[in-house]
Amino acid sequence: MHFCKMPSGAQMPAFGIGTWRMGESRRRRAQELEAVKYALELGYPMVDTAEMYGDGEAEEIVGEALIGQPRPFVVSKVYPHNATLSGTIAACERSLKRLKLERIDLYLLHWRGGARLEQTFEAFHRLRDAGKIADFGVSNFDTDDMEAAAGLDKGLTASNQVLYCLSRRGPEYDLLPWMRQRSIPLMAYSPLDQGGLLGSAPLLKIAAEVGCTPAQLAIAWVLAQPGVATIPKSSTRERVKENLGALAVTLSPEVLAALDRAFPPPRRKQSLEML
Ligand SMILES: NC(=O)c1ccc[n+]([C@@H]2O[C@H](COP(=O)([O-])OP(=O)(O)OC[C@H]3O[C@@H](n4cnc5c(N)ncnc54)[C@H](OP(=O)(O)O)[C@@H]3O)[C@@H](O)[C@H]2O)c1
Repeated sequence: MHFCKMPSGAQMPAFGIGTWRMGESRRRRAQELEAVKYALELGYPMVDTAEMYGDGEAEEIVGEALIGQPRPFVVSKVYPHNATLSGTIAACERSLKRLKLERIDLYLLHWRGGARLEQTFEAFHRLRDAGKIADFGVSNFDTDDMEAAAGLDKGLTASNQVLYCLSRRGPEYDLLPWMRQRSIPLMAYSPLDQGGLLGSAPLLKIAAEVGCTPAQLAIAWVLAQPGVATIPKSSTRERVKENLGALAVTLSPEVLAALDRAFPPPRRKQSLEML
């Protein structure tokens, strides 16, 4: 297991489970709870959630799954329409209640909306001073948004969670270098492109040569990028276990080169994509 150091000096695990789409259906709830519990039992060191997911229900599921388990690193996010000074503080308190926690390890602005960034960051600083969050950061911020945040965060933006996977390598052109220069880890969401990557013929072929599954190869590639963490989501026990297996996959320079040929890095600036 490797970790990424955040500007505060604290460490963030490079791997965890995502929870988007969890909590949306009562019919699937028990299976989703079981999947998150199982991930924690297997030793997933991080869980990513948000007040948006299932309208708070995903945070409830995470809160239930945490009972009796070793405490993982917990990430949650505030909705942009709640991200005023008082709104952010109130949203965080609601999230803490649903998560049954006293502190969120990393609290993110889900995307840049109408609220003034100054207000959101002031709320983050106050929450941090009050011990309700340990670190804070942003999500879906392109390089220009990161520049805007940099003046307001007292150098403490801990991470930027963005869409980044083999089939969406745009951040490599300028965002990832910008973040690496400042030692801010990038948290890659949708490392499987929400499952869309997994039918790719070159991915299947290279995975067979490496001796792992296509999902493991896609996740291992993200983890091979310096300063990058990732949070694949699954509600299925077998896949939760399979995805953790990516940590044991080492990619040789030849395999990385074959992946570059199949999924070329960007040659020019691409606006940050968002799901
Ligand atoms: N900040 C943001 O704006 C933002 C946006 C998107 C996502 N996220 C976060 O990032 C997490 C991951 O992204 P994501 O959920 O969009 O996409 P993802 O992790 O790339 O893919 C999840 C999809 O792939 C399937 N899957 C998982 N493991 C698999 C495997 N081994 N084999 C085959 N299929 C597999 C899952 O189905 P099953 O569940 O049925 O296994 C699900 O449909 C989210 O859950 C969320 O926490 C954040």
